[in-house]
Amino acid sequence: MSEEIKTTEQTVSKPAAKKRIFSGVQPSGLLTIGNYIGAIRNWKTLSSEYDCIYCVVDEHAITVRQVPADLRRRTYETLAIYIACGLSPEDNVLFVQSHVHQHAELSWILGCYTMFGELSRMTQFKDKSAKNADNINAGLFTYPVLMAADILLYQADLVPVGLDQKQHLELARVIAERFNGVYGDTFVVPDGYFPKVGMKINSLADPTKKMSKSDTNPNGYVAILDDPDTIIRKFRRAVTDSDTEVRYGEGKDGINNLMTIYSAFTGRTYDEIEAEFEGKGYGDFKNAVGETVADGLRPVREEFDRLMKDKAYLEGVMKDGAAKASNVAVRTLSKVQRKLGFVQVK
Ligand code: TRP
Repeated sequence: MSEEIKTTEQTVSKPAAKKRIFSGVQPSGLLTIGNYIGAIRNWKTLSSEYDCIYCVVDEHAITVRQVPADLRRRTYETLAIYIACGLSPEDNVLFVQSHVHQHAELSWILGCYTMFGELSRMTQFKDKSAKNADNINAGLFTYPVLMAADILLYQADLVPVGLDQKQHLELARVIAERFNGVYGDTFVVPDGYFPKVGMKINSLADPTKKMSKSDTNPNGYVAILDDPDTIIRKFRRAVTDSDTEVRYGEGKDGINNLMTIYSAFTGRTYDEIEAEFEGKGYGDFKNAVGETVADGLRPVREEFDRLMKDKAYLEGVMKDGAAKASNVAVRTLSKVQRKLGFVQVK
């Protein structure tokens, strides 16, 4: 973020040493190995180069009905997963959205700079309204505005998200540019930071579709926290084709997907994997993938279990993170309010 330094005659902009990254995950379900491979496990390497802020977006979660006890538990769990995947609270700001009230406040303001038509075009809104026909609430509609507020509040330069969030991110840019256009430079216009191509993980039950934590068929996804036996069983049942050769190719969506996962966990190339399983059948390959993934996630799960037994520690991280996040949020909101013409009394 560029910091303004006031001198007597002019305002100069000092470029900060590090660019800022912001991302959020909803505490609405368990994260899958798709989230792990494509996103979270890579985030730990970013903290040396960027100023990283990761949020558990509980306010977004209530756009669909939540059981309060589940929401509370998942908020702790999502934070614990972040930490267990290697995001240390010392090197990253980790916090819970509802602990920093400026998100909701900025969201109201930005809503007045977002058009009804723009929100109506969001494909996720259309999908979610179709799925929740009995609860098409205003929050579901303005969801992308709150997301824009999350990002713009921290003047984030880069936002790591899945491709499904690209449209929301583009809207955040439009809102930032619109506001800047009216009031002068206020927000950094954020860029997306998308997972590498080829790292898209598909469902084990239907390998033509993205692996999703909200899949109604639990055999379709592998959760980061699934126990080893479950992981191995799910891979054994993975849908493949009627061919027998472990080879990356057209029409072999199931095998391609398993090869991508195996490659992500072992660092081996497709050629190396093909050589490794030459003359062996799909059964051997599926077992190998299952065991490799179960082994790879073991330390994450163990650390998660340890953290979940220490609520006091997790709450300390939340408090500390919220305090750090607030420092930035307060400044941005106050700048916005000043520009809008809100009276500020100190
Ligand atoms: N909408 C995002 C998702 O479902 C979560 C999210 C909320 C987010 N606010 C954000 C992601 C800000 C990145 C930045 O995946």
